[in-house]
Amino acid sequence: MGAPRNRSDSGLLAAGAAPAKVILAGEHAVVYGHAAVACPVRSLQARVRITAAAPGAGLRLDARDLGRTGGLATQDAALQVLAQVVRDTLTRVALPAEPDWIIRIQSRIPVARGLGSGAAVACATVRAVAQAAGRELARADVNALVWRSEKRLHGTPSGIDNQTVVYDRPLLYRKGRPPVFFDVRTDLTFLLADTGVAAPTAEAVKAVARLRAAQPDRVESWMREIGDISQAVCAALRENRPAALPGLLNRNQALLRRLNVSAAANETLIRAALDAGALAAKLTGAGMGGQVLVLGENGGRAALVRALQKAGARAVTSFSAQGRDPAAARVSQ
Ligand code: MEV
Repeated sequence: MGAPRNRSDSGLLAAGAAPAKVILAGEHAVVYGHAAVACPVRSLQARVRITAAAPGAGLRLDARDLGRTGGLATQDAALQVLAQVVRDTLTRVALPAEPDWIIRIQSRIPVARGLGSGAAVACATVRAVAQAAGRELARADVNALVWRSEKRLHGTPSGIDNQTVVYDRPLLYRKGRPPVFFDVRTDLTFLLADTGVAAPTAEAVKAVARLRAAQPDRVESWMREIGDISQAVCAALRENRPAALPGLLNRNQALLRRLNVSAAANETLIRAALDAGALAAKLTGAGMGGQVLVLGENGGRAALVRALQKAGARAVTSFSAQGRDPAAARVSQ
């Protein structure tokens, strides 16, 4: 294994990036082996840059958005997750000692909003560290390292977040099976409205587990239906049948309500979107806050954005399900 490459122009050794992810259908049911559909949101990226530090300085993590810095032995819980990603990657690329690096992490992905921020930051970090070590890891290797970090962060994740951000393609995912990547044949723009409330993934997953333990048959039948919805959403996107989507997405939301993961903050934005003419609106990710996914008619976007803002959305972001995101996707803040 070679020493880190020094692209000495500005001390920059390496850079890595990864997109946010959004679940279109199937959250929570996917934890129990049912299908879910997700796609990357390329307008929201996590970026990591590694520069050379003075010889003997060791490794420093600088998470600017979080206002936190520390070394590999940091006691800061948020940085520890990242420090472990760095350690795992250094081991994977067989770099022996703690290198003299400054690792700067910057992310436009809101934290704890169901957009896969943890997976994206881990993915960008793995890519940058491997590159700084003079190695290019295969996507499967990057995915394995990000998956390990996801398990540390979320307890029993399904794996959909890491698969989506690492492979950066729309996918139909079932736990334990190879993901099915597909092309979206419909030119669809969705809106994401931020409730401003943190979505506690591990807590939401545990709450659903408790409900499932208390009412196994009912919950399993709802989850089976959610899995069928995901398969149908995937088929509609692949076969350019957008008219099928509103009914499927709204039904998915009705079932998420039964799972008790749609909080008042989600319901307020969903109601505002539907009242303003949206075709569909549902929570995305873990729920209990986080983001609401809105599908509107082409052309009616400005009115929808205004209605979402008026109802309290902290930010509204648009994204293309085909990955053709407009440069300035953040339409309000
Ligand atoms: C979180 O983005 C989605 C959940 O289904 C959890 C998971 O899939 O790991 C709630």
